[in-house]
Amino acid sequence: MGKKKLARFRELGSLEKVFQPPLEEIFQKNYHLKGRWKKEVFGNDYPLVLELGCGKGEYTTGLARKYPTMNFMGLDIKGARMWTGARTARDEGLGNVAFLRTRIDFINSFFARDEIEEIWITFPDPQEKRRRMKKRLPGALFLNKYREILKDGGKVHLKTDNRELYLDTLEMVRYNDLPLVRHSDDVYSEDWEDETVSIQTYYEKIFLTEGIKINYICFRLPAGKKIKEVTHESE
Ligand SMILES: C[S@@+](CC[C@H](N)C(=O)[O-])C[C@H]1O[C@@H](n2cnc3c(N)ncnc32)[C@H](O)[C@@H]1O
Repeated sequence: MGKKKLARFRELGSLEKVFQPPLEEIFQKNYHLKGRWKKEVFGNDYPLVLELGCGKGEYTTGLARKYPTMNFMGLDIKGARMWTGARTARDEGLGNVAFLRTRIDFINSFFARDEIEEIWITFPDPQEKRRRMKKRLPGALFLNKYREILKDGGKVHLKTDNRELYLDTLEMVRYNDLPLVRHSDDVYSEDWEDETVSIQTYYEKIFLTEGIKINYICFRLPAGKKIKEVTHESE
């Protein structure tokens, strides 16, 4: 590991509201803050929103600036990226921001039923190979995990450069009859009066400079509904 990365890792551990639990504290176990994040970490009862695969956490900090009476947590497995977001939160005194370094696969060890208000998935790895589809963050396997922690009918937002991932997600939403809030295959061509979709992440800025269109989809997840993978008749 390079010196810079190592220094960031060290500093990450000392920053407030950054959590990096070892596997033995969460594997098939409930983390001690499960169901208690608002009260014990943020000291309030405001709604809690997650950014999954947050990278440098631009959505986590960007939304936190706009909505001071809400709490925001960025989750990612990569600590060096997360350091940027955690430093921003510290430097700007954003008390409504926290970061959790873990695999999203373990999300149910961290959050209790109804604990989460909304979920943002920002530029996830598309996992294009068929055998890796299960690993897609907006795929059925993960959505069923989110369903366990989101309040009933809570929103899931996906922003992606990947048109196939966008179209597959749209198909999955329709196949499962999930309430679709809105969607676009070119978000910046829309005349939406909503500042949240125009927050830009590190990856998004790269895609935009390459002239790639940004896709966005927002849908609701009813708690009682098991999400099924799309199957076509020929399969
Ligand atoms: C393409 S990057 C996007 C980062 C950021 N959202 C952005 O738009 O700049 C995808 C991120 O998702 C994280 N990631 C992918 N799968 C994950 C998983 N199962 N658990 C935790 N993090 C994951 C990666 O570490 C990476 O930082």
